Amino acid sequence: ITAEKLPKTGWEQGNSVVGGGSPFVFSSKRSECEHELRGKVVWVTGASSGIGEELSYQLAKLGALLAISARREDELQRVKKKCLQISSLSDNDILVLRLDLTDRSSHEAATNSVLKHFGKIDVLVNNGGRSQRSLFVDTNLDVYNAIIELNYLGTISLTKYVLNHMIQRKKGKIVTVSSVMGIMGAPLATGYCASKHALQGFFNSLRTELTDYPEISIIQICPGPVQSQIIQNVFTENLAKSIENSGDQSHKMPTDRCARLTLVSVANDVKEAWISDHPYLAVCYLWQYAPTWAWWLMNRMGKRRIQNFKSGIDADASYSRKRK
Ligand SMILES: NC(=O)c1ccc[n+]([C@@H]2O[C@H](COP(=O)([O-])OP(=O)(O)OC[C@H]3O[C@@H](n4cnc5c(N)ncnc54)[C@H](OP(=O)(O)O)[C@@H]3O)[C@@H](O)[C@H]2O)c1
Repeated sequence: ITAEKLPKTGWEQGNSVVGGGSPFVFSSKRSECEHELRGKVVWVTGASSGIGEELSYQLAKLGALLAISARREDELQRVKKKCLQISSLSDNDILVLRLDLTDRSSHEAATNSVLKHFGKIDVLVNNGGRSQRSLFVDTNLDVYNAIIELNYLGTISLTKYVLNHMIQRKKGKIVTVSSVMGIMGAPLATGYCASKHALQGFFNSLRTELTDYPEISIIQICPGPVQSQIIQNVFTENLAKSIENSGDQSHKMPTDRCARLTLVSVANDVKEAWISDHPYLAVCYLWQYAPTWAWWLMNRMGKRRIQNFKSGIDADASYSRKRK
């Protein structure tokens, strides 16, 4: 699906593309295809900020019934309140469910709570996660453990319980917000890239185990840089340290654009969607089809990334045009 075929939302550069990780260009069933999500029960993790928050608003407007999860319940209540203001949903249509993805012992009970409330789960959006800004040589191994616990093990643990339910119903969609970092490698994010590569490998394999369930879709969303609280929340060299200055994020793709393209991908069962502005999107294609060039280019871009980070601006700031 090329973004150009979609109705324009907000500002539009026309260069963000939902691709399939293949030379084929998918055509969308209908430009308004996300409306297929009306009345569906959608469970969004990481809904208290950023991409998950925006997905919740757009899903609410589309008339999906929502379970919204994260650790900060007060933030989830704020998101629920806004969802109710902007949609025709009623209080009972949105379940706020506190969930810590790293507390795997709570995932079965959480899944049962959603099922008790709505009777079914049509779509799970595995969105909760944290990134990283630190060099490997400076980083404590505990940080790597925590990233894998959250981004990888937390995600597959929740998936396990929800998938059991979808297998009983013989239908459903498991959507995972991976990253372009699940396709390429980049400095300052060795642990984060590893966790997203792990998710890519896991879900690509899981899909091949579900061939008897053609109505269960495994969908991976790979965004490039998107405006959110991801930098404020990054892992650094040690678990106790947070980032001092998250820097200007205005050069990144607006959250609503990423959420919109995500929902179009979900409605169309796109197996792998790359949602990014250039140059990251071009680098993804290089990484996939001409890795030797990608390694050469990444060595140069990577140096800039580290310099930017060390000088206190966003690591990717100097590659992107500033949004007007
Ligand atoms: N923004 C980007 O540039 C970008 C690019 C590619 C991929 N992504 C991916 O997009 C997803 C959403 O990130 P975002 O950009 O929207 O960042 P964000 O604004 O920081 O949102 C992250 C969400 O994850 C939740 N979360 C963090 N730790 C959690 C835990 N232990 N248990 C449950 N929830 C937890 C946070 O909620 P609480 O703190 O309340 O728990 C928050 O709702 C992530 O998987 C990220 O890797 C982002």
